[in-house]
Amino acid sequence: MGGAPDPDFRAVFRTTPGLYLLLTTQFEIIEATDTWLRHTGTQRAEVLGRPLLDVLAESPDERAASGPRELRESLERVARLGRPDAMPVHRYDIRRPDGTFDERYWTLLNSPLRNEAGRITGIVHRVRDVTELVRLHREGDERDELARDQQLLIERLRAANEELAQRDRSLSESGRLYTIALEAGRLGSWELSLPDRRMVSSAQHKAYYGRGPEDPFTHDELRAAVHPDDRATRQAALDRALLGGADYDIEYRVIWPDGSTHWVQVRGQVIRRRADGTPEHMAGVTLDASERKRAEEILEARVATRTRELADANARLTAAVAERDKAERALVEARRLEAIGRLTGGVAHDFNNLLAAVIGNLELLSAALGEAPPRRYAEAALSAAWRGGRLTQQLLAFARQQRLESALVEVNDLIAGMDTLLQHTLGGLVQVEMALEPTLWPASTDATQLELVLLNLAINARDAMPEGGTLRIATRNVEQAGATLPEELDPGEYVLISVTDTGTGMSPEVAERAFEPFFTTKEVGKGSGLGLAQAYGVARQSGGTVRLRSSLGGGTVVELFLPRAPAATQAEPNWTPPSDHVASRGSAVLVLNHEPVLRHIAGELLAEAGYQVQEASTGHEALAVLRERHFAAAVVDAAVPGMTGTEFARLARQLQPELQVLFITGGADMLEPNRLGPRERVLSKPYGRAELLSALRRLASAWAE
Ligand SMILES: Nc1ncnc2c1ncn2[C@@H]1O[C@H](COP(=O)(O)OP(=O)(O)OP(=O)(O)O)[C@@H](O)[C@H]1O
Ligand SMILES: [Mg+2]
Repeated sequence: MGGAPDPDFRAVFRTTPGLYLLLTTQFEIIEATDTWLRHTGTQRAEVLGRPLLDVLAESPDERAASGPRELRESLERVARLGRPDAMPVHRYDIRRPDGTFDERYWTLLNSPLRNEAGRITGIVHRVRDVTELVRLHREGDERDELARDQQLLIERLRAANEELAQRDRSLSESGRLYTIALEAGRLGSWELSLPDRRMVSSAQHKAYYGRGPEDPFTHDELRAAVHPDDRATRQAALDRALLGGADYDIEYRVIWPDGSTHWVQVRGQVIRRRADGTPEHMAGVTLDASERKRAEEILEARVATRTRELADANARLTAAVAERDKAERALVEARRLEAIGRLTGGVAHDFNNLLAAVIGNLELLSAALGEAPPRRYAEAALSAAWRGGRLTQQLLAFARQQRLESALVEVNDLIAGMDTLLQHTLGGLVQVEMALEPTLWPASTDATQLELVLLNLAINARDAMPEGGTLRIATRNVEQAGATLPEELDPGEYVLISVTDTGTGMSPEVAERAFEPFFTTKEVGKGSGLGLAQAYGVARQSGGTVRLRSSLGGGTVVELFLPRAPAATQAEPNWTPPSDHVASRGSAVLVLNHEPVLRHIAGELLAEAGYQVQEASTGHEALAVLRERHFAAAVVDAAVPGMTGTEFARLARQLQPELQVLFITGGADMLEPNRLGPRERVLSKPYGRAELLSALRRLASAWAE
């Protein structure tokens, strides 16, 4: 190129427009363009020879922290790989002369410089300051976003804003937002200046008191609008807020100018106090509570109804359960007595047969002994055997297996007839009261048994009143009224006899067992425990029952239910006492019994009394005898095996229509007393000579009449 001087490349480089640096492979600055120095606010003298990363001081701004690191990594890549390396926009803040930093954004290109041998000798570092671009871009984004938000806000709040702006231009920005919130929540707002009670309130607040937005509304008017019943509570809540510093929080009713009543909920606080604590300013919100109150009231009413329904259902259930329990207990009790009854009945039957034999033999023995002294022993034994006989009768009564001569009984007359007996039995300490229903129905039962039952009840009462007291016997008619009748009774009409005493009463345990035969609390020899058992048996066998009500110290009531006698029932004709003239003596009597001992005794008793006796041990045998010979009477064991007593009687009548039949029974047997024919009678075991003869005589005389 001749003598042309070499261009001063260094000077050329320095003046190159653009931001360039020439770096060593150690990233020290070899040269910088003027533009670079200007942009970075540095002087050439202070940067040449120094590592680039030292020259560019790190900004304290965290977001700029990655700049230097990324720059170093880019340079290292160039030095290592020998390829140009571009860096996208990144932030690298520049320190100003005053020490603060200027937020700057750059794009960079680092390119390797090689010598002829191809070895990397340096790096050309080119920078473009894109701060302006970035800023413009970002501002654009922000503007867009802001614009969107504002649009939304404006749309949502425009109406409110406009109204607000109109109403109160002096409201600050925050005040306006506050108002918007209140309106959105349909909250009325109010402020109360306390010294002068001046109140400022929003349109919504006024609306809750039934006032228009423009109506004046003073604190006094507000107080007057509060429902009279709620004024005291409101005042108390207000006082607590003013004096105690509590939040003012209350619900009360307000009466609108049109007279309607509404619920409001009010919340407030004292927002300013004087140094000495005196409240100066109060503010708060009001909201409508009518809807909620109504819902609450409906809910409460529903809950109350539901609770009531549940309680009712529960009560019905409890009653039903109690009713069922009662019925169950009554049933169990009835079954228990039934079972005891069957056992008792069986034993009593056997005893009756034994006693009949014992009594018969003793009577024969005592007759045979004549006036000889040992006759005393026989008679003592006889009287004991008779006592046994009475006991077995009671047992049979309880077992409902005794022969009941049910007939129409005028109970009041029967009770009246017992008066003297009762007075005598009860002694002077017990006062007797009668309350007899004048129009009492006749009852259907066995009069003799009923007398025994009443006598025993009276004795029980006396025993329970050792210091004296009152015995009250009352009668009345009981109509079919399911609930009042004991469970075991069929619906129907009953005659009720109640025997009440003011005695010791019974504990539940005693009352529960009182009807059991042989259950007694009395000392040995005083009670056999058969009285109530007999009462129960007689009543049940008559078609009624007995009910006991008693408590310790509270006296006792025994109620005897007897069925009303059907209209057709005839009163039992009074038997004339057996006359002494023995019409049938000397006549022939047939004795039918399969038990040899009993048969012989009956035969001997009759023979001794002058009858002509023939014995038969089976029904067929007896019928055969009847075909041969005429008999005035037959004494027939009702329970002959093979043929019942009644069957025998029927067949016998075909042979001898005039035959009189005396049935001997150990109990109710198969015989139905009211189905007895005119020439038939019944004698219960055990019987003695006198009973047998008198029965035969009655049979004869009844027939004779
Ligand atoms: N009026 C009453 N007051 C209190 N307890 C009574 C009354 N009646 C019965 N009792 C109780 O019931 C028990 C059974 O009575 P029940 O009449 O069956 O037998 P008893 O009176 O003991 O003996 P019995 O009647 O055979 O002479 C009595 O022992 C007594 O404890
Ligand atoms: Mg008794």
